[in-house]
This record gives sequence, structure tokens and C-alpha cells, in this order.
Amino acid sequence: MSRVITVANQKGGVGKTDLAVNLSSQLAELGKRVLLIDFDPQANASWYLTKNSYKLSTADIMLNGIALDEIIVSSCVKGLDVAPSTMGLSAAQIHLSQDVNMQFKLKKKLEIISRNYDFIVIDTPPSLGPLTINAFTASDGIVVPVQTHFFPIRGLSDLLRIVEEIKEVINPDLRVYGIVLTMFDRRTSLAKEVKHVISERFGGMVFDTIIPVCVKLAEAPSHRKPICIYAPSNKIGKIYRELAEEFLTRLID
Ligand SMILES: Nc1ncnc2c1ncn2[C@@H]1O[C@H](COP(=O)(O)OP(=O)(O)OP(=O)(O)O)[C@@H](O)[C@H]1O
Ligand SMILES: [Mg+2]
Repeated sequence: MSRVITVANQKGGVGKTDLAVNLSSQLAELGKRVLLIDFDPQANASWYLTKNSYKLSTADIMLNGIALDEIIVSSCVKGLDVAPSTMGLSAAQIHLSQDVNMQFKLKKKLEIISRNYDFIVIDTPPSLGPLTINAFTASDGIVVPVQTHFFPIRGLSDLLRIVEEIKEVINPDLRVYGIVLTMFDRRTSLAKEVKHVISERFGGMVFDTIIPVCVKLAEAPSHRKPICIYAPSNKIGKIYRELAEEFLTRLID
């Protein structure tokens, strides 16, 4: 059985897709079988990891009764598959809001492929709408990237409250694997201050590994490659490797 991890934060542009893509890639490089499900209509992770040759997407599994294994394509990273997304997934949000069992839809779809992967990583849109709730319902745990700026920390408590509600009502086993500080610019006192505030408030929830601001990371999506392939010798690859290893130790705790 695979372990299902959702990368979520309702704030936009905090590094969710970057984390989902590079954590998945590193887990695959560590020899794990990984599936990344793009559950965002923006389809950024699909752009990042595929050659856009896919015909079916997560929109089809949510709207047209297609099975998950029918949409899966391989990526440029050995051991990493992708369930790609399209803009059409945004229609699923409306459809889902009219469906009584809406929050269980993705979870049901995962059953068929669960044995094929060690990890399933879900990239979510910047909202706490039906797609993200579906991902939470289907997950063992969540990882929350937080940009080390002021506004991103404001929504963190709201996000964790929703997770508590999902635990109480739908998925009692849902865990928060941790908060990952992203786009950390050590030259600014703001970044240090935000790091301090988050560490004080959320303590052990915060990963020791911090993702710094990195030009290569910003460049990688346009080359449609994760950092381990786009810039294998850059130190950011090593940092993502450390993050993946820390993530694996957190699963045991
Ligand atoms: N550590 C980093 N250093 C520099 N640029 C980064 C870093 N991480 C991500 N970026 C860039 O910042 C932008 C936002 O990152 P990303 O797309 O991962 O955020 P997101 O939370 O998934 O956004 P959305 O909410 O729109 O889905 C992208 O252009 C990405 O390439
Ligand atoms: Mg994204």
C-alpha cells in the first residue's frame, strides 16, 4: 500500500508545486516508486514533468468516470510517474460541490493503483475548496510549504484548523508531516523574523531543512525538468535530498 501525501497551502505562489515536484523526484531517486497527482487546474506540475503529450487528465477521473491508471504517464525521472492535470479540472470543483459524497471521490480512485507505488504525492490548488478537501480525505498526511514572508504565515492557522476538522469528521488518521519554509532569503531580516515566529508558534512541526531562494529553482520549470536533472550539481539538489530524507524519518516518528 502506498502512503499518500498532500502538499497544500491555500496561499498562492508559496512553493507547493516546486515542493511536490522536487520531493517526489528525490523520493524516486532514493529508489521509491512515486506517483505525483496534479490536482490543480493550473497544471503547473504537469507542465514541469511531462512533455504535454497526454490526452487524459485528472479532470477525466473526476468528471468522466475514467480510472486513475488510464491517465498516468511517465516523467523524465526514473521511478516517478505523473497523473497530469488540465484547466478542465476547474469544472470538477462545481461538479463536486453538488455531489453528496464529494470528498471521497479521489480516495476511491486511488484504490486501484495503491499497490503500484510507495508514495503518492498530490499537488493542490491555492484554495481550500473541494479539490483540496478531496486530497485531504485521500491522504495519510500533509506537508505545508510556507514562504518566509509576512502574509503566508497569516493563513497557516486557518489551514491547520481545517485539517483538524477533516480529522474529526472524515479522516481521523490524517497527519501533518510538517511545515517547510520555502524561498528563504538569509540576507533579509524579514526572512529570519518569519522563521523565528513560525518556529516559536509551530515548534517541532517545522522541518529542519529549509528551501532557500534559488534562481535555478525558478528556472527549472521553463526547462520542464526537476532540479535533480536540470542542475544536478547545484547545492539546491542536495537540500531537496536532505528534505526527502528528513521526510522519511518523520514518517517513523
Ligand atoms: N526556492 C525558490 N527560489 C526561487 N524561486 C522559487 C522557489 N520556489 C519556487 N519558486 C518559483 O516561485 C513561483 C511559485 O512557486 P510554485 O509554483 O511552486 O508555488 P505554488 O504554491 O505551487 O503556486 P500556486 O499557488 O499558484 O500553485 C514559481 O515561479 C517557482 O518557479
Ligand atoms: Mg502550484
